[in-house]
Amino acid sequence: MSTTVEISAIRAKYREPQDIFHENSMTKKDPFHLFTKWFDEALVREDLVEPNAMCLATVNKDGYPSARFVLLKTYDERGFTFFTNYDSRKAKDMEENPNVAATIYWLPLKRSIRIEGSVTKISKEESEVYFHSRPRASQIGALASPQSKAIPSREYLDEIESGIKKELGDGQVPIPNWGGYLITPRAIEFWQGQTNRLHDRIRFRKSDEKADEKLVHQADLEGWVYERLAP
Ligand SMILES: Cc1cc2nc3c(=O)[nH]c(=O)nc-3n(C[C@H](O)[C@H](O)[C@H](O)COP(=O)(O)O)c2cc1C
Repeated sequence: MSTTVEISAIRAKYREPQDIFHENSMTKKDPFHLFTKWFDEALVREDLVEPNAMCLATVNKDGYPSARFVLLKTYDERGFTFFTNYDSRKAKDMEENPNVAATIYWLPLKRSIRIEGSVTKISKEESEVYFHSRPRASQIGALASPQSKAIPSREYLDEIESGIKKELGDGQVPIPNWGGYLITPRAIEFWQGQTNRLHDRIRFRKSDEKADEKLVHQADLEGWVYERLAP
């Protein structure tokens, strides 16, 4: 590309002012509680498609990062679970280095959540239950796709898929080397965009340090503190 495309003039126009996100507005100073509140608010927005899409960053053993979107499938106080192919590039990265970061962005709400933590595979049984709960076409798709590998053509993929369909008939789709990862978070940050551009950032992190209640505050969750960060 020889010409520079100028996109610096693009400015997001806020259709409605955002509420100031103040520490005192949190009914419980607990990152999982707040995540649930924000996620529920995102779920009911009709202008928000796939609110569970998150950009997952991994880093390989040589220190090179790579990022891609995955869908968040469950969350609770243990952490955040997504599913993927265990032979994929991201799986290889996570085998070499379990440290990951994930970011969600909800444009209509001008909100973003950043998660940092480390991954472990969930149990084979749990992965199987989820795999078989997916639409049959998705199960077959996962079985047919050697995710992240170079393949000769689109037809190659279609042929594998129709071969599998023929072979299986109405039978159950066997789970490929595929399953869930649980991100156990050590930090969760909540970002609220503001019209005046002085955005709000509240970061919760796991820490045993004593909260000074000036910069570092005790969360309502054992072993966690929170702090406000400059935007
Ligand atoms: C919105 C969105 C959601 C996606 N969800 C998943 C997912 O849940 N699991 C997955 O393996 N790939 C998902 N993908 C595809 C990945 O982004 C990626 O192409 C694939 O996992 C291969 O990544 P890798 O080669 O870095 O391992 C999604 C893509 C998009 C755009």
